Amino acid sequence: MKLYVAGLVLLQLLWHTLEQEELVASPAGISNVTQISEANINSTLSSNEVLFLNFYADWCHFSKRLAPIFEHAATQLKLEFPAPGKVQLGRVDCVKEVALADLHDIQKFPTLRLFYRGQPVRREYRGLRTSEALVKYVKSQLRSAIVEFNNSEDLAEIDPKRRAVIAYIADTEDPAYGIFQIMADRFKNDCDFYLHIGDDLDPDLEHKGAIPKQLPALVFRPDVARTHGQDEFYAGSLEDPTQVEPWILAKCVPLVRAVNFANVEELIEERLPLLLLFHLPEDDVSIKDFKAIVEMQLSDQRSKFNFVTVDGWKFEHSVKHMGLSAKNLPIIAIDSLKFMYPFTKFSDMYIPGRLKQFMQDFSSNQTVVDRKIVEQNPPRDEQNPPRPVSTFKELGPSKHRYSLLHDEL
Ligand SMILES: *[C@@H]1O[C@H](CO)[C@@H](O)[C@H](O)[C@H]1NC(C)=O
Ligand SMILES: *[C@@H]1O[C@H](CO)[C@@H](O)[C@H](O)[C@H]1NC(C)=O
Ligand SMILES: *[C@@H]1O[C@H](CO)[C@@H](O)[C@H](O)[C@H]1NC(C)=O
Ligand SMILES: *[C@@H]1O[C@H](CO)[C@@H](O)[C@H](O)[C@H]1NC(C)=O
Repeated sequence: MKLYVAGLVLLQLLWHTLEQEELVASPAGISNVTQISEANINSTLSSNEVLFLNFYADWCHFSKRLAPIFEHAATQLKLEFPAPGKVQLGRVDCVKEVALADLHDIQKFPTLRLFYRGQPVRREYRGLRTSEALVKYVKSQLRSAIVEFNNSEDLAEIDPKRRAVIAYIADTEDPAYGIFQIMADRFKNDCDFYLHIGDDLDPDLEHKGAIPKQLPALVFRPDVARTHGQDEFYAGSLEDPTQVEPWILAKCVPLVRAVNFANVEELIEERLPLLLLFHLPEDDVSIKDFKAIVEMQLSDQRSKFNFVTVDGWKFEHSVKHMGLSAKNLPIIAIDSLKFMYPFTKFSDMYIPGRLKQFMQDFSSNQTVVDRKIVEQNPPRDEQNPPRPVSTFKELGPSKHRYSLLHDEL
């Protein structure tokens, strides 16, 4: 635990050092960052391919520190992309623009969100706050997410560890084409997007499973290396975004998510207890089975829990924290964001109803248990060993990087 905390502190120090390096005042002149308000947000969104917004508050120390860095990044991007309409950086004063802050669900300052062709990219930017990193991120988003393909060979190259949405559309005049583009822009950080234009379907495609009977068609191909799932056709209308979007969301942001140190912050921010599978790095079988069981038996719990798989080596401190070791993997546990509760035995998950019972017991007496633990902390007798406190809570948005509007998780 000490080592882990020391590691976190070190990481934060590193962050701060890197962030301080950029603390040079911007030269006088007109800012390259546009002040965004309710009055100009729509026109700015529609007139720029990429709009990268900094939602800030003047009272927030981290916002103040970011301002010159963000300005520097904007200047850099102006030099690289001088043509209007390509890239624009903007800032939203959340104290003045309360409605905009609400609309974009701002929970902490600063929050950095990118819009591509007017669409909010689903994941906010949580990386380093240096102008170099910001510029790199914006450039990485400056591309269409869609890969066009002509034949089955192209399709066969889809990475089996990634989720893909594959569209077959007769021509670019089809309304489905525009809608597919919007969806790809919105979800490009969650799924890969492939498109075949034309009605000349390569007969070879049949061998790969995903061959539509009529156009336009949409197919979801799961990350087959890590799930038991198969290609699935979309049955709704491709011309109705209100039907397409929930389908893509459900497929591209699956019930069980793989978590690593890069994406854990956004998960903890959702403030739900976690049902975790700690697995050996290459244990695809346990991952596939765990996903299948959660999807079949526990999908009604999605509003109460986040379902997560983590590499038990990378998250070894959490495993050790429960008094277990890498030898015990795979391990299932609940992290309530206060305390950790290991499930008795991994193989018990195959007994129908066991995992559900475990979660129900946790939910029904969690508050009682947590309170008891807090009151008598630390309980010392053998029968009542101290309950391991959450190791995941500390991986959420940190007070060392953000001004949090809701302090308590
Ligand atoms: C804005 O960007 C231009 C480069 O296009 C640069 O010359 C100018 O100094 C920048 N303005 C500020 C205030 O940094
Ligand atoms: C901006 O667009 C949104 C939704 O597209 C709309 O509700 C809002 O009224 C627009 N605002 C202005 C100022 O035009
Ligand atoms: C597919 O075919 C079109 C026209 O024949 C061509 O322009 C395009 O480059 C091809 N795409 C790929 C990925 O081979
Ligand atoms: C939690 O609830 C279950 C039944 O719902 C009960 O069997 C168990 O003893 C309770 N555990 C604690 C620690 O209170």
